[in-house]
Amino acid sequence: MLFSPYPKTKKEELFDRERELREFEEAIGRGERLILLLGLRRLGKSSLLNVALNELPNPSIKIDVRKTYSEFSSVNRYVIGKMLLSAMSGKRRIIEEARVFLERVRGVSISGVGVEVTSKEFSITELLEALNEYGEKAGRIIIAFDEAQYLRFGGATKYDGVLAYAIDNLENLSFVLTGSEVGLLFDFLKFNDPEAPLFGRYHHDITLNRFSPELSAEFLRKGFEEEKVGVSEREIEKAVEELDGIVGWLALYGYVRVTRGVGHEDAIEEVLREAKSVVNSELSKLFAYSPRYRVILKAISLGYSRWKDIKDYLTLKLGYVNDSNFSALLENLVKSGYVEKKNGRYRISDPVLERVFREL
Ligand SMILES: Nc1ncnc2c1ncn2[C@@H]1O[C@H](COP(=O)(O)OP(=O)(O)OP(=O)(O)O)[C@@H](O)[C@H]1O
Ligand SMILES: [Mg+2]
Repeated sequence: MLFSPYPKTKKEELFDRERELREFEEAIGRGERLILLLGLRRLGKSSLLNVALNELPNPSIKIDVRKTYSEFSSVNRYVIGKMLLSAMSGKRRIIEEARVFLERVRGVSISGVGVEVTSKEFSITELLEALNEYGEKAGRIIIAFDEAQYLRFGGATKYDGVLAYAIDNLENLSFVLTGSEVGLLFDFLKFNDPEAPLFGRYHHDITLNRFSPELSAEFLRKGFEEEKVGVSEREIEKAVEELDGIVGWLALYGYVRVTRGVGHEDAIEEVLREAKSVVNSELSKLFAYSPRYRVILKAISLGYSRWKDIKDYLTLKLGYVNDSNFSALLENLVKSGYVEKKNGRYRISDPVLERVFREL
């Protein structure tokens, strides 16, 4: 179902994105070792990744690093090792075929079709080396980290160093990193820092953009048609205007209309309700860290777009803040993708969140 509110896995359920899918497959075909899949929240990064991994013949392993981090409050090497191995456990073929290689990795034990990290000796690098050897036989192995910016919380495990080593030496592995907090991802990878392990490494970036208004309308029409639900052109137009090409919101709008049989206004209300709960869960950490974030987001959503005006609003609400502290807070919001900076003006990237922020 085109409107299903979960990340897609099958090509038939993925609307458009043919160009991006082809680009991804060609990069893997050329043996590229580092691919970044970038784009704001809800533009379909996880969906594209799932479909690409399903379509390609290569063995692949995927970890959702954001989910892992929220589950374990850490992404140390044992946690990531465990996730890599459990992602493999589900795929009998990799476990069976790679068994002889995995058996040699210290701290890993294999039983039946399950593999586990069992001792402190475990090293991610050794695991990758084993997969690389398996890849020599099985063809290029794809290792995907969804929301890879969370790898920065590795503590003693420096994943940028691990990645650099693997990219330089393990020719049968390709890494795919997705990131919605693009600034944070690049802060972690530090391609431009001569002191950093990944300095100057080649990476193929694929950026997902919003759908154009025409494409958004086509997406809605096609989805409603598929479910045999009649919706007027006028309403489609209004939905496109309010949801602005963000496929996650378009899909949710369609899903609500189709499954609950509600009209336009109610469906938009539901999308806003969902957005509110997303804001509460995603941004609560940020707001706990500094209450100023909340006020800055509110200011920008109300239309204050210049650095000075946003700062004045913040000062009015919460008192004095010095320039560099304020700039750092604003910059963090840009790095997280919630705020966009264009021609010296700031604005909220997502129109649905903008409406929610106005009520903060
Ligand atoms: N090309 C597409 N065709 C149809 N539905 C899509 C498409 N891309 C995304 N969706 C839908 O939009 C929603 C968000 O997609 P997805 O989770 O893949 O995005 P994301 O960029 O990974 O988001 P997040 O940043 O929240 O992880 C899901 O409900 C998914 O089914
Ligand atoms: Mg995702």
